[in-house]
Amino acid sequence: MTSTDDDRPAVLDRLRMPRPVLDALACPVCGAALGPGGNALACSAGHRFDVAREGYAGLLTGHRTAGTGDTKEMVRARQEFQSAGHYAPLADRLAELAAAAARPPLAEGGLVADIGAGTGYYLGAVLDAAPGAWGLALDVSKFALRRAARAHPRAGAAACDTWRGLPLRTGSAAVLLNVFAPRRPAEFHRALGGGGALIVVTPTSRHLAELISNLGLVSVDASKEERLEGGLGAHFSRTHREELDLELSLTPGEAAALVGMGPSARHLETGETAERIAALGDPVAARASFAVAVYRPA
Ligand SMILES: C[S@@+](CC[C@H](N)C(=O)[O-])C[C@H]1O[C@@H](n2cnc3c(N)ncnc32)[C@H](O)[C@@H]1O
Ligand SMILES: [Zn+2]
Repeated sequence: MTSTDDDRPAVLDRLRMPRPVLDALACPVCGAALGPGGNALACSAGHRFDVAREGYAGLLTGHRTAGTGDTKEMVRARQEFQSAGHYAPLADRLAELAAAAARPPLAEGGLVADIGAGTGYYLGAVLDAAPGAWGLALDVSKFALRRAARAHPRAGAAACDTWRGLPLRTGSAAVLLNVFAPRRPAEFHRALGGGGALIVVTPTSRHLAELISNLGLVSVDASKEERLEGGLGAHFSRTHREELDLELSLTPGEAAALVGMGPSARHLETGETAERIAALGDPVAARASFAVAVYRPA
């Protein structure tokens, strides 16, 4: 007996990824298109990749760069903090900038790829504001991907290590998001295919500065943005830059989540940081400060 349902490859029941997003994926080994191949994803050269039970495509190859993905605890803290809505103004701004910069336009089915997407919070917000657009969350952390696979009905998620390249077909992305995550400019340029834009968010030197010093934690490297410019310059030109500062009023639990999702996460393990947070009172005042920049492919 044959029917359309029986012919449907088994892997598509597990993969939480709309077809237009799957069509944008490239084999991380040879760059060819990927499609369903029985119980896995496969390219025409026979490279095969598993789909995780949680619905994301496992496109990591070889040995991944050690220790770069967010841990389970960091991802849980990120989810907890972001769901409280404190960074919603940044998400809203990214949605506006992405809609303005994407080529093809998001309303015409453009693909938004979020590189180092974490839980997919910003990707979800951009897609909410852009009916017709598709989304792909890329990250190296399986804990992040488990959540990112459910970030939005018009999005899917795939495991990849940015340093090794992007599993995207050349020119498949209309806009790239890169929020507090690693960058690989030549690959970003290739994925955009000479059109669209890359939107990068980095912390300014004011980002969480008082909170960090009050808690005796790791401070933001102020020269980071300069290095960012240097790295992107060969492939992109910056067409826009703005800073967005947010005055935050946090519960002690939210302050702990904010610390726990960042580079100081391990300090929470000792309990000393939690004590210091408690000593700051309730609510805890903090300032988030972002630099948001739009880059066009050169
Ligand atoms: C600071 S978090 C930002 C997450 C998300 N963009 C956000 O702002 O909520 C950095 C993310 O980059 C991911 N990441 C780190 N190294 C990576 C790599 N080499 N390739 C892909 N993702 C990576 C981490 O797992 C983490 O989810
Ligand atoms: Zn291949």
